[in-house]
Amino acid sequence: MKALIMAGGSGTRLWPLSRETYPKQFLKILGDKSFLHITYERLLRLVDHKDIIVATSEEYEYHVRNDLYPYEGYSLILEPEKKNTGPTILLGMLFALEKLSAKEDEVLLVIPSDHYVKPEERYAQYLSFGEKLAKMGYVVAFGIKPSYPDPNFGYIKLGETLLSEDDLSAYRIDCFVEKPSYKMAQDFLKEGSYMWNSGNFAFTLKVGLEEFKTNAPELWQWAQKGFHYTMENYSKLPEIAFDYIEMEKTKRGAVIPMDVEWSDIGSFEGLYRVLPTDNNGNVCVGNTLCMDTENTLAYSVERLLALVGVKDVAVVEERDALLVIKRDMSHKVKDLVSVL
Ligand code: GDD
Ligand code: MG
Repeated sequence: MKALIMAGGSGTRLWPLSRETYPKQFLKILGDKSFLHITYERLLRLVDHKDIIVATSEEYEYHVRNDLYPYEGYSLILEPEKKNTGPTILLGMLFALEKLSAKEDEVLLVIPSDHYVKPEERYAQYLSFGEKLAKMGYVVAFGIKPSYPDPNFGYIKLGETLLSEDDLSAYRIDCFVEKPSYKMAQDFLKEGSYMWNSGNFAFTLKVGLEEFKTNAPELWQWAQKGFHYTMENYSKLPEIAFDYIEMEKTKRGAVIPMDVEWSDIGSFEGLYRVLPTDNNGNVCVGNTLCMDTENTLAYSVERLLALVGVKDVAVVEERDALLVIKRDMSHKVKDLVSVL
């Protein structure tokens, strides 16, 4: 099995910690390792290092090499431009076939580089089950039980059961909706048979290419020219997410619901929810002092951050910027960054 880690996104939803030049996958906010580093180590449970491909944008080469410094043998694709995950996955398939001599019936795992997942052993079991299902000819997604109506995710409607083994099950994807409106997300939650798409995928290279041919011919035509030619002409490829060109269209979609702790950490609220709280419901990171303070995220990078008598906020201190935001308005950071 080969694996493609997608590490070229440019999220700024964790500003001022993440920046255009320093996106979330390179942040070390869960400890002393970056999200990318943690993702890489998590994958080593299943995939040999020489079968791991990391794809990123040219401008992030230094960060990837630095974060994965202790490791050797993985392959690195340096994209000349950011084109989102559709073109990245095409490059990953071509690289696996041409450079890693993958067989067409071999499975490619596609993995985001910036998520929180626990416990890792259980996650690995779901991915192994995904490999089995992918070999049966499905394009496999991995679902998470939704807990609130978040319009930033893909939503998957579960269909008939395809395969069950012990405590693992897979279902046909009846319908996949990428980033619905808030109202639709609310309806999906009420309806009860929808899951969030976790952003991990598995399919054989043969099925992947066939699916691009059917659903994304504008990308598949590049596959005919090979990896190098595609890289050289990368600016001509359309900028589009895999979820739109493939997952919303495929007739061979399958989903494996995962019962794990999972977060995309797309906001400070997301970060607050995965880090341990003290007795007052505070998450304190770095040099902080919280007095009569409740349910607050206090995150300091450099200076002493002291809070007295505040409630339900996130305060994030960086060298050149300070953010104070109500926790339940954390999603507004992206609007703030667009103004900045
Ligand atoms: N190499 C490369 N190049 N990687 C990229 C690029 C690119 O141009 N664009 C994004 N990525 C990486 C990101 O770094 C991230 O690890 C992953 O691909 C997914 O991209 P996001 O931009 O974070 O996608 P999203 O969070 O909006 O949506 C996806 O993930 C959700 C779950 O977190 C979709 O798959 C949704 O359906 C899903 O619910
Ligand atoms: Mg994401």
